[in-house]
Amino acid sequence: MKISELVKKFPEEKDMGVLSRPYFNHSIEFKNIFTQAKRAEMLETAGLNVFFFPSEMISGCDLLSDSGTTSMTNEQWAALHLGDEAYGSNRGYFKVMEQVREIFGEEFFNDPNSRRPNAFIFHQGRPAEDALFTMLGRLGSGLIIPGNGHFDTTQANIMRNNIQPMNLFSPELMDESFASHFKGDMDVERFEKLLKRSHNRIPLSLLTITNNTGGGQPVSMGNIREVSELSHKYDIPLFFDACRFAENAWFVQQYEPGYRRKDIKTIVREMFSYVDGFTISFKKDGLVNMGGGLFLKDGGLFMKKYPDIPDALMGYQIDKEGHPTYGGLSGRDLMTLAVGLKTATREEYLTYRISQVRDFGEELHRRGLPVMTPIGGHAVYMDVNKFFADTRMQPEDFGGVAFTAVLLAAYGHRAIEMGYFAFGSYDKKTKKETLPEFNFVRFAIPRLRYEKQDLDSVVEAVEFLYEDRDKIPPVRVTYGRELPMRHFKARFEFRK
Ligand code: F0G
Repeated sequence: MKISELVKKFPEEKDMGVLSRPYFNHSIEFKNIFTQAKRAEMLETAGLNVFFFPSEMISGCDLLSDSGTTSMTNEQWAALHLGDEAYGSNRGYFKVMEQVREIFGEEFFNDPNSRRPNAFIFHQGRPAEDALFTMLGRLGSGLIIPGNGHFDTTQANIMRNNIQPMNLFSPELMDESFASHFKGDMDVERFEKLLKRSHNRIPLSLLTITNNTGGGQPVSMGNIREVSELSHKYDIPLFFDACRFAENAWFVQQYEPGYRRKDIKTIVREMFSYVDGFTISFKKDGLVNMGGGLFLKDGGLFMKKYPDIPDALMGYQIDKEGHPTYGGLSGRDLMTLAVGLKTATREEYLTYRISQVRDFGEELHRRGLPVMTPIGGHAVYMDVNKFFADTRMQPEDFGGVAFTAVLLAAYGHRAIEMGYFAFGSYDKKTKKETLPEFNFVRFAIPRLRYEKQDLDSVVEAVEFLYEDRDKIPPVRVTYGRELPMRHFKARFEFRK
């Protein structure tokens, strides 16, 4: 019997419960090992703010962010050496142009000689947001930008330009009775009401894919289509905050009826066919350590409605970041980005990546930890209020901050508070705290970096803390409670 016949008698590879990773380690870095006592001492010095804790002292997993923390592939490291550091129109710029056209559509990157500038490279996501909202802020006063859940920097850049950000979270987001896979959707009912009432005040609508502020949950194609139709009905352009576009497309493929047989690239193209532009931080699904951009659809509603903005954007970019053909990045960074974008849309990569996050989250869930389900694309979100439900922890004790400090000191894993402290605000005059809708601690999983064993160790550490949750004391803010973006700057101490 021929081996080709024989092999058919065995179960297929795709039916196996455990598949090996679709990559292997190309290069590794040994961690330093630090004791609890040393980490605790360091955290004391850092005022319990985990942002100020030296990453070299993290002997566990650093789950502070999935942004810019990817391990690059050997192809990316090789591409780095092919970088061209010319001051204008370097090699990497053209490679990125090719990839943006291939992935998102030709219409998002005009030839620079066409005199219709529509593609603006920036050094990360937030300067792209700054440029876009600065342009919109000049259109008038009393403006509103509705979205399915603005990220903190997006919200900050909107507000900096005297525009009001408005989050229309899906009503299913915090409702456990919904097993919906698309809890990141925008609440269309509220959106429609807002449009009827205030469409004149809306210069643009924004869908964040996936919804980082709302549990890392994906947005369905159905919702994208509906929001696009509604927005366009009122002559309002729709944009994506597209940081995790490939992960969002994977969820559509897996869970939305009608998409199972479509490949990721086709799904991405359809998603982007509904929008008039997008901002992006390439530090997520671009699989690079630095990079971002703002892309306007040629022939889209935004370019039609605001014909003067593209040229103004180019001027703004030159003043702030540099020539549009490098936009604040070195040529070698652009080379790695072109390769990263290709990898990020590979189905086997996405399947492995998102399953890793899901398995980690489901293990926490199985052990009774209050994580949001279903698990999102890039991170696991734990409900701080539920975690501390039967303890003395009060909302203004910032239990999430206390949790992240103890997790880091005791077990060497770094997570981030994304809840009452990060998204809340404090008025010094009235001494009033305004709390946001959600109170999460987020475990963000860097791409291509950790293995199952690493994440299993985080599960165990979180379980230990849960068992002893009444021993985690409240924190007091010793510095920065009233500051904007306070979570990056504040300092704390434990109360008794
Ligand atoms: N939009 C979203 C949805 C993001 O998640 C981020 C960054 C940005 C915009 C800003 O991009 O950092 O390149 O300026 N998110 C990171 C995080 C920081 O940890 O979630 P950036």
